[in-house]
Amino acid sequence: MHDVNLLFICLGNICRSPIAEGVMREKVRKAGLQDRVRVDSCGTSAHHVGEAPDPGSVRICRLNGLDIRQQRSRQLHPKDAERFQWLVCMDGSNLKRVKRAAGQHPHVVLLRDFEPGADRGQGVPDPWGGGARGFAQVFEIVDRCTDELLQRVAQEHDLSD
Ligand code: 4NP
Repeated sequence: MHDVNLLFICLGNICRSPIAEGVMREKVRKAGLQDRVRVDSCGTSAHHVGEAPDPGSVRICRLNGLDIRQQRSRQLHPKDAERFQWLVCMDGSNLKRVKRAAGQHPHVVLLRDFEPGADRGQGVPDPWGGGARGFAQVFEIVDRCTDELLQRVAQEHDLSD
Protein backbone atom coordinates (compact mmCIF):
# COMPACT_ATOMS: atom_id res chain seq x y z
CA MET A 1 0.00 0.00 0.00
CA HIS A 2 1.25 3.43 -0.90
CA ASP A 3 0.77 6.48 1.35
CA VAL A 4 -0.15 8.77 -1.50
CA ASN A 5 -1.75 8.00 -4.85
CA LEU A 6 -1.55 10.53 -7.68
CA LEU A 7 -3.70 10.35 -10.79
CA PHE A 8 -3.04 12.51 -13.86
CA ILE A 9 -6.08 13.04 -16.05
CA CYS A 10 -6.60 14.30 -19.61
CA LEU A 11 -9.17 13.54 -22.32
CA GLY A 12 -7.75 10.56 -24.21
CA ASN A 13 -4.95 9.38 -21.89
CA ILE A 14 -2.64 9.00 -24.90
CA CYS A 15 -0.90 12.43 -25.11
CA ARG A 16 -0.69 14.68 -22.04
CA SER A 17 -1.37 12.56 -18.96
CA PRO A 18 0.96 9.72 -20.09
CA ILE A 19 3.79 12.28 -20.24
CA ALA A 20 2.85 13.55 -16.78
CA GLU A 21 2.74 9.97 -15.42
CA GLY A 22 6.17 9.17 -16.89
CA VAL A 23 7.81 12.40 -15.70
CA MET A 24 6.33 12.24 -12.19
CA ARG A 25 7.13 8.55 -11.72
CA GLU A 26 10.78 9.29 -12.50
CA LYS A 27 10.86 12.22 -10.06
CA VAL A 28 9.29 10.06 -7.36
CA ARG A 29 11.91 7.38 -8.04
CA LYS A 30 14.76 9.90 -7.91
CA ALA A 31 13.43 11.19 -4.59
CA GLY A 32 13.42 7.60 -3.25
CA LEU A 33 9.67 7.78 -2.68
CA GLN A 34 8.58 5.01 -5.04
CA ASP A 35 7.29 2.84 -2.20
CA ARG A 36 5.24 5.69 -0.74
CA VAL A 37 3.89 7.47 -3.80
CA ARG A 38 1.99 5.73 -6.61
CA VAL A 39 1.56 7.47 -9.95
CA ASP A 40 -1.08 6.62 -12.55
CA SER A 41 -2.99 8.34 -15.35
CA CYS A 42 -6.35 8.06 -17.13
CA GLY A 43 -8.67 9.84 -19.55
CA THR A 44 -12.17 11.20 -19.14
CA SER A 45 -13.14 9.64 -22.50
CA ALA A 46 -13.10 5.96 -23.50
CA HIS A 47 -12.01 6.63 -27.09
CA HIS A 48 -8.49 5.27 -26.79
CA VAL A 49 -8.85 2.66 -24.04
CA GLY A 50 -6.15 -0.01 -24.29
CA GLU A 51 -3.95 2.04 -26.62
CA ALA A 52 -0.29 2.85 -26.04
CA PRO A 53 0.70 6.53 -25.77
CA ASP A 54 0.76 8.66 -28.93
CA PRO A 55 4.05 8.41 -30.88
CA GLY A 56 4.63 12.13 -30.21
CA SER A 57 4.48 11.53 -26.44
CA VAL A 58 6.67 8.42 -26.66
CA ARG A 59 9.24 10.38 -28.68
CA ILE A 60 9.51 13.45 -26.46
CA CYS A 61 9.81 11.23 -23.41
CA ARG A 62 12.51 9.11 -25.05
CA LEU A 63 14.43 12.29 -25.95
CA ASN A 64 14.37 13.04 -22.23
CA GLY A 65 15.46 9.58 -21.13
CA LEU A 66 12.02 8.17 -20.25
CA ASP A 67 10.36 5.09 -21.71
CA ILE A 68 6.56 5.31 -21.46
CA ARG A 69 5.73 2.65 -24.09
CA GLN A 70 4.35 0.20 -21.53
CA GLN A 71 1.52 2.56 -20.53
CA ARG A 72 -2.03 1.81 -21.74
CA SER A 73 -4.95 4.21 -21.91
CA ARG A 74 -7.76 3.69 -19.43
CA GLN A 75 -10.88 5.67 -18.63
CA LEU A 76 -11.54 7.46 -15.35
CA HIS A 77 -13.24 4.97 -12.99
CA PRO A 78 -15.93 5.97 -10.45
CA LYS A 79 -13.75 4.51 -7.67
CA ASP A 80 -10.72 6.63 -8.65
CA ALA A 81 -11.88 9.42 -6.34
CA GLU A 82 -11.56 7.01 -3.38
CA ARG A 83 -8.36 5.38 -4.55
CA PHE A 84 -6.39 8.55 -5.31
CA GLN A 85 -5.68 11.46 -2.94
CA TRP A 86 -4.73 13.74 -5.82
CA LEU A 87 -6.67 14.03 -9.10
CA VAL A 88 -4.51 16.25 -11.29
CA CYS A 89 -6.25 17.52 -14.42
CA MET A 90 -4.62 18.78 -17.61
CA ASP A 91 -7.25 21.36 -18.53
CA GLY A 92 -10.44 23.05 -17.41
CA SER A 93 -12.69 20.67 -19.29
CA ASN A 94 -11.13 17.65 -17.57
CA LEU A 95 -11.39 19.49 -14.24
CA LYS A 96 -15.09 20.13 -14.67
CA ARG A 97 -15.82 16.51 -15.47
CA VAL A 98 -13.69 15.15 -12.66
CA LYS A 99 -15.25 17.55 -10.15
CA ARG A 100 -18.66 16.34 -11.20
CA ALA A 101 -17.57 12.71 -10.76
CA ALA A 102 -15.53 13.15 -7.58
CA GLY A 103 -17.89 15.20 -5.41
CA GLN A 104 -16.26 16.62 -2.28
CA HIS A 105 -12.75 15.37 -3.04
CA PRO A 106 -10.18 17.76 -1.46
CA HIS A 107 -7.51 17.62 -4.18
CA VAL A 108 -9.05 17.88 -7.63
CA VAL A 109 -6.57 20.30 -9.14
CA LEU A 110 -5.19 21.73 -12.38
CA LEU A 111 -1.60 20.75 -13.11
CA ARG A 112 -0.74 24.25 -14.30
CA ASP A 113 -1.76 25.77 -11.02
CA PHE A 114 1.61 24.39 -9.84
CA GLU A 115 3.58 26.28 -12.51
CA PRO A 116 5.83 28.81 -10.80
CA GLY A 117 4.87 32.35 -11.74
CA ALA A 118 1.96 31.37 -14.00
CA ASP A 119 -1.60 32.67 -13.81
CA ARG A 120 -4.06 30.28 -12.22
CA GLY A 121 -6.67 28.37 -14.24
CA GLN A 122 -4.56 27.59 -17.31
CA GLY A 123 -4.69 24.29 -19.19
CA VAL A 124 -1.92 22.21 -20.75
CA PRO A 125 -2.44 22.67 -24.53
CA ASP A 126 -3.66 19.53 -26.30
CA PRO A 127 -0.94 18.36 -28.76
CA TRP A 128 -3.07 15.62 -30.34
CA GLY A 129 -2.77 15.53 -34.13
CA GLY A 130 -0.17 18.30 -34.13
CA GLY A 131 3.58 18.36 -34.65
CA ALA A 132 6.54 17.65 -32.40
CA ARG A 133 6.65 21.21 -31.02
CA GLY A 134 3.33 20.75 -29.27
CA PHE A 135 4.57 17.62 -27.52
CA ALA A 136 7.83 19.35 -26.56
CA GLN A 137 5.81 22.21 -25.07
CA VAL A 138 3.69 19.78 -23.06
CA PHE A 139 6.84 18.11 -21.75
CA GLU A 140 8.32 21.43 -20.61
CA ILE A 141 5.14 22.49 -18.84
CA VAL A 142 4.75 19.09 -17.18
CA ASP A 143 8.38 19.13 -16.08
CA ARG A 144 8.03 22.56 -14.42
CA CYS A 145 4.73 21.81 -12.74
CA THR A 146 5.57 18.36 -11.40
CA ASP A 147 8.58 19.68 -9.43
CA GLU A 148 6.25 21.98 -7.54
CA LEU A 149 3.49 19.39 -7.25
CA LEU A 150 5.85 16.80 -5.77
CA GLN A 151 7.03 19.33 -3.19
CA ARG A 152 3.44 20.13 -2.22
CA VAL A 153 2.52 16.46 -1.98
CA ALA A 154 5.62 15.70 0.12
CA GLN A 155 4.78 18.57 2.49
CA GLU A 156 1.13 17.79 2.79
CA HIS A 157 1.66 14.07 3.40
CA ASP A 158 4.80 14.46 5.51
CA LEU A 159 7.04 12.42 3.20
CA SER A 160 10.28 14.21 3.97
CA ASP A 161 12.44 12.08 6.24
P1 4NP B 1 -4.92 13.78 -24.62
O1 4NP B 1 -5.05 14.15 -26.19
O2 4NP B 1 -6.22 14.13 -23.96
O3 4NP B 1 -3.79 14.61 -24.15
O4 4NP B 1 -4.63 12.28 -24.56
C1 4NP B 1 -6.15 13.75 -26.96
C2 4NP B 1 -6.22 12.47 -27.44
C3 4NP B 1 -7.31 12.09 -28.21
C4 4NP B 1 -8.32 12.99 -28.47
C5 4NP B 1 -8.24 14.29 -28.00
C6 4NP B 1 -7.16 14.66 -27.22
N1 4NP B 1 -9.43 12.61 -29.26
O5 4NP B 1 -10.31 13.46 -29.55
O6 4NP B 1 -9.56 11.43 -29.61
